[in-house]
Amino acid sequence: MTPQTRPNVQTISPYIPGKPIDEVRRELGIKGAILKLASNENPLGPSRLAVKAMRKYLREVSQYPDDGCYLLGKRLALHLGVREDQLIFGNGSVEVIDFIIKSFVAPGDQVVMADQAFIMYKIAAKVADAKATMVPLKNFTHDLEAMARAVTPQTKVAVIANPNNPTGTMVSQEQARDFLKKVPESCLVVFDEAYYEYIRRTDFPDSIRMLADHPNLIILRTFSKIYGLAGMRVGYGIGHPDLVAAIRKVRLPFNVGLMSQVACQAALDDVKHLEASRQMNDLGKEFLYQQFDRTGLFYVPSEGNFILIDPKVDSDLLFTELQKLGVIVRPVKNYGFPTALRVTVGTMKQNKRLVRSLKTALRALRKKGS
Ligand SMILES: Cc1ncc(COP(=O)(O)O)c(C=O)c1O
Repeated sequence: MTPQTRPNVQTISPYIPGKPIDEVRRELGIKGAILKLASNENPLGPSRLAVKAMRKYLREVSQYPDDGCYLLGKRLALHLGVREDQLIFGNGSVEVIDFIIKSFVAPGDQVVMADQAFIMYKIAAKVADAKATMVPLKNFTHDLEAMARAVTPQTKVAVIANPNNPTGTMVSQEQARDFLKKVPESCLVVFDEAYYEYIRRTDFPDSIRMLADHPNLIILRTFSKIYGLAGMRVGYGIGHPDLVAAIRKVRLPFNVGLMSQVACQAALDDVKHLEASRQMNDLGKEFLYQQFDRTGLFYVPSEGNFILIDPKVDSDLLFTELQKLGVIVRPVKNYGFPTALRVTVGTMKQNKRLVRSLKTALRALRKKGS
């Protein structure tokens, strides 16, 4: 008999990433430009300062990187107004999620999450042989009252994606504060704020401030989204120094590459790139909402750089039809939205192409009678 993985691992549905451009080109033989709006990447690309910094360090890559991310930690601590020992870096924030589950969750423990939130939480819980307690969203938003009720003495971690992926909705300062008050201190609370820098709402939780009163809180952020460095794989957690020290024990050596560290340091200096990215996203969302309203396409207003749309057709068919037009989006059937797609907000030119392609693809599907 061939080696068998653990029973819980056998039940895992693997993470489905946004389809890469090259793969679509190969499969469909598309010659023209392919537009990928499937992974919530920054359409403006990386900061020029980050690219310049990476060029400068190209010849250093025969050396191991700084294991403790000393300089990046110093720069980021200054940027966030926290201490360096409050930071833990990962190969993307997904790795920090993995560290958290590994360090706090034993087989049979519970992890509380929303049923339609970022899918990696469920996968990490399963890998740990834990029970993922899934609390239904209310109005496409985390139902924090129900989540607090779902927390039991066996709950070691509760995760809230704020804003949520794939719905783009957020919980407010008041709701977050109320949740933290209700949950026992023995339960680690994770606020996953991967899209933090896109937020405009003033009632978004000031989560870093909350750390002082809640040593069981950890905040996750990333350089993959607004900083345009998804390919460099850097995310981080911010928490109480004791919590961070505990989690650091499970980190593998050199988990953040040398080029990644210098790119992120430089990106933090590029305020112009950040602001341009934010503004482009605001304008893009406004344009897309107008277009969707005009055609009567259902969407969920988003606080991030992506929008959940529900054209009420089989999303796999629509996804395939859009691919034929050279447009890659993300079907979200695996999140329990069988007729919806998640689209990343692009440049104005890309948004216009998305709207045109959606119309063409929906027309083609109607003609086929699906
Ligand atoms: C809510 C949420 N958390 C975390 C991540 C992972 O980001 P990273 O690239 O930092 O691993 C994503 C990426 O899509 C996300 O949507």
